[in-house]
Amino acid sequence: MALGFPLVLTKIGCDAIVAPSPGDRWTMKASRLTTVDIVAMKRQRERIAALTAYDYTSAQAIDAAGVPLILIGDTVGMVVQGHETTLPVTLDQIIYHAKMVVRGSQRALLVGDLPFMTYQVCVEDALRNAARLMSEGGVGAVKLEGGAAIAPTVQRLVSAGVPVCGHLGYTPQSTHAIGGPRIQGHEPPDAMGLLADAQALESAGAFAIVLELLPSSVAEEISSRISIPTIGIGSGPGCDGEVQVFHDLFGLYTDFRPRHTRRYLNVSLDITAAARQYKQDVLERIFPGPEQSRDLAPAARETLRMLLAARSA
Ligand code: KIV
Repeated sequence: MALGFPLVLTKIGCDAIVAPSPGDRWTMKASRLTTVDIVAMKRQRERIAALTAYDYTSAQAIDAAGVPLILIGDTVGMVVQGHETTLPVTLDQIIYHAKMVVRGSQRALLVGDLPFMTYQVCVEDALRNAARLMSEGGVGAVKLEGGAAIAPTVQRLVSAGVPVCGHLGYTPQSTHAIGGPRIQGHEPPDAMGLLADAQALESAGAFAIVLELLPSSVAEEISSRISIPTIGIGSGPGCDGEVQVFHDLFGLYTDFRPRHTRRYLNVSLDITAAARQYKQDVLERIFPGPEQSRDLAPAARETLRMLLAARSA
């Protein structure tokens, strides 16, 4: 079979086998992608579709779909833990979730978020905490929020061998200072500031930058002026890629629906309907049925009946 790329069959759970479509980097490479592959995707004009994941089963499902970059984001604090912001998430929690995502994925580059105040206080903290996220959590890169002000930290991390993804625009760890999720850089001087931040991160050695909640044209201008990939969220189609939160995209998180997301599934509604059906089936003794049950062989059943009869006689 001369396909020119390794044919990869990915097993999901026990009953589905998926062959990823040929032609993209994910298919061309037999081992896990690295930040070098992600940077090359921009050079080769291959768009980057990234998603968050926080556990084994969701990582398995999206890795099998050929998603090249999985983010173990601190949005876990909102969509899994039920907090209003990402601030309560700890490094130990991100490491805990990263380990599950590592076990559930074989191909995607895994990027782990450095949580609030694990890198802002001093460079030593940033180095120590990034090292834990990589060595204990198993991720291939870390993400942190901020622009020129954080660039010296990014530089130290990169020179210590830690690949770094930046995050500009709406930066959720500063939500209280920003005043909540809102578009950033809509005034031209602010847009120029964001471009300077992106260039500072690029010069510091970041391999990619998440651009969150920027006007489309600002995100597009930044993307065309730096050589590393931009990965947008709520920043229009002009970025080099897109990242979305798993629970938003598949309708698992229903507290609110960010304008920038599209529901590809409505899993939460489906689960509620299915749980209602399950409850009804249990109440009506429809479930479990004979297919879900095992019983004694007829002879053993007869013996048991006799033993019980003898006892009650
Ligand atoms: O934590 C996260 O999931 C993120 C994405 C929203 C980019 O930072």
